[in-house]
This record gives sequence, C-alpha cells and structure tokens, in this order.
Amino acid sequence: MTRMEALTDDPAFMADPYPAYARWRRSGPVRRTTTPDGTAVWLVTRYADVRAALGDPRLSLDRTNSRGGYGGFRLPPALDRNLLNMDAPDHTRIRRLVSRAFTARRVEEMRPRIQAVTNRLLDAVASCDRVDLMAALAVPLPLTVIGELLGVPAGDREAFRGWTTTLIAPDPGRPGQAGEAVGRMSGLLARLVADKRAEPADDLISAMIAARDEEDRLTEEEMTSLAFLILWAGYEATVHLVGNGILTLLRHPEWLAAVRDDPALVAPVVEEVLRFVSPTPYAIRRFTVEDVTIGGVTVPAGDTVLLSLACAHHDETVFLGPENFAPGPRENSHLAFGYGAHYCLGAPLARAEAQIAIGTLVRRHPGVTAALPVEELRWQPSYRSHGLLELPVILSKAG
Ligand code: HEM
Repeated sequence: MTRMEALTDDPAFMADPYPAYARWRRSGPVRRTTTPDGTAVWLVTRYADVRAALGDPRLSLDRTNSRGGYGGFRLPPALDRNLLNMDAPDHTRIRRLVSRAFTARRVEEMRPRIQAVTNRLLDAVASCDRVDLMAALAVPLPLTVIGELLGVPAGDREAFRGWTTTLIAPDPGRPGQAGEAVGRMSGLLARLVADKRAEPADDLISAMIAARDEEDRLTEEEMTSLAFLILWAGYEATVHLVGNGILTLLRHPEWLAAVRDDPALVAPVVEEVLRFVSPTPYAIRRFTVEDVTIGGVTVPAGDTVLLSLACAHHDETVFLGPENFAPGPRENSHLAFGYGAHYCLGAPLARAEAQIAIGTLVRRHPGVTAALPVEELRWQPSYRSHGLLELPVILSKAG
C-alpha cells in the first residue's frame, strides 16, 4: 500500500483543500498517512465508507483499543473521561444525562436569548465601517451562549478559548505551552465545580453536580470531563460555522441577496455551508477492535482510523457538482455532525446560532462586503478545524 501525502497544519492548505480532497478520493477509499503530530492513520475518503464507519461499533473511540499508542491531546483524567473517548455502555449512560439539555425543543426556547446576544454584538459595531466579524460576532456568540448554559462566568470564557486554541493549533516554537494550557483548563473547571457545589445555580454544571452527588450517576472525573467537552465542543465548531457561512455568502452574493429577500432560506444555506466548508474536517479518531475491511481494504486490529468528513462532502458520486455552493430544497445528507451513536449533541443549537447570526447580519447589513481579497484571509493553522482567524468586512447600513 503506497502512502499518501501527510496531513498538514499549513493554513495555506485550508484556503483551498478541495483539489487535494479530490486527489485523495481518486487515489483510493482508504489510504495510509500521518497526522502533523506524527501518528500513523488510515484515512477514509469516500462518503459511503465514512458514513458506514461512523456507525460501525468495531471502530472504538476508547484509546485503550489503540495498539501503537495514539498521540493526540495529552489530557488528565479530569478532562479526558468524556463522551468522545468512550464507547457503550459508559457512553450511553453519560450521554443520556445531558441529552435533554440540547433537544430541538430546548433549543427553540433558547432562540430569543441567542437573538438578543446577536443583536447586542451587532449593535456594538453598527457605527463602524470596517469590522472583523470573527472577533465581533462569530467568536463571542457561541462562547456566550454555551458559557451561559453551563454557568461559566463571562470573565473566564475568552481565556478558556485561548487555551483550547493552543491545543488545536500549537505553536511549534513554544513546546511547553500546551501542557500549561491543560493545567489552566483543569484548574478553571475544578474551581467552577467547587463554587457551584458550594452555591448551586440554574445551570448545566450545577445539574451535573446534582447527578453526581445526589444520584451517583457519574464519577467526579466523568463530570468535569463532560463539562469540559460541552464547553469546548459548544463553541469551537460553531465559531467556524458562523465565520465560514458569512465568508461563503460574501463569495456568493447571489445567495446573500436571496437570504435578504427570503429569510427562510437561511436554514438551507446553513446546511449547505456545513457540507461545502465543514468546520470539522475529520471525525474523532477511531481504533479498530478487530480487523475491519473498509472499501475493500483490511485495517488491522488496534490501528487508528481517521474519517474525512470534508472529503466525503465533496464526493461527486453522492453530491451533484460538489464544488458548487447550491443550497437546495432537498434534504442535504451531509455528515458534518457525524452519524450514529456519537451524533453531535449540539446540532440543533449550532444550527440555531448560525441561522440567527447569519440571518441577522444580512437583514441589518444587506450590502456587507469583504474588506480583503479572499486570498489574503488567514486560516487557523490546524488540520483539526477549518476556520478563519479574522474576517474583515465593510458593513453597510440597513436598507
Ligand atoms: C457547527 C457546529 C458543530 C459541528 C460541526 C459539530 C460536529 C460534531 C461531530 C462531527 C461530532 C461527532 C464526532 C464523531 O463521532 O467523531 C460531534 C459530537 C459532539 N458534539 Fe458537536 N458539533 C458542533 C457543535 C456543537 C455544539 C454547539 C455542542 C454543544 C453542546 C456540541 C457538542 C457535541 C458533543 C457533546 C459531542 C459528543 C457526542 C457523543 O459522543 O455522544 N457540538 N460534534
């Protein structure tokens, strides 16, 4: 089996990864490659195989099934005992505890609050001509919403995002930085849990503490790890969905005009953004618990498998003209939120935030334009996440 080009953290790659994705799919359904941290993985490139693998229980998320020792993030048990590192039955038990907080109905009830936060953020920049929409809207909206839901004080949220960014896009010149960030995150979560134990509030961390202390339904490490996962997952990809969504409309002004004229189109637009520029290019790494044949290739037990969601989303055997941005009335069968037992818990929340952020921006500033040519935009230097560092625009006044 020939090796494919290694996966890269180069931000220039993220500016236009699609020719590479087409090459990967053409070169075979499953290829050996390495991640930027040097882990050898089997990369799955085509839609049907990716979807089947997401639902295949022989692909475990539990690192103890890794034969060669998987690198990845080095997290202490207080952060690591989370849903994305475990299989049933622990996964089923813990997921059940929090799934009620994120149902479509609960998220509908949150819409007025999401709208109010969006309005406040856009009010703050309404009189500016040139605005970075990542800093003004895409970052603070999801961070505020998930911070409020969990009960993380406003003053701690930006620092937390800084630490997780260090983990996703480590600075090669500062090797100790990731360990320091992990220490600070553990410290913050321990402080939050202690504070809420002493003084419970109407928030999700207090509810988790009650499930732990009064009902004994999860261990202390599972509880802090769950809070950590929901906080991080709750903003990271949503930040980039909002950013990528706005950028895509700026690059397709006919769709910006269409959403302005018919606000209901924002829902199919957001679905197509999820397919077209997936904020999460890969599913969480998985480990084969036995020899597993994928696309005709046998992956030995204990090896690491990486499922490329973004590559699958441009598979021409499934999506007609996948390089065209074409929101449609038909159901969009993208895999941006995963599939199967680990299907994203926050999908309704992410959709609501992106629809409200993009819809409100277009309504208030229908003539918004990019302040920089697309080639000059800076992308996050990470293979794990596809998103912008900045999105400078010229805002128009409401028409
Ligand atoms: C655009 C935004 C988002 C995207 C693209 C996204 C994507 C994903 C994907 C692909 C998975 C499955 C991972 C896998 O099976 O390998 C996942 C799981 C998860 N997501 Fe999201 N997510 C988003 C927003 C959110 C939000 C807002 C939350 C807040 C609660 C959230 C919480 C979670 C959790 C807790 C899991 C783990 C579920 C489990 O293991 O059972 N996500 N997400």
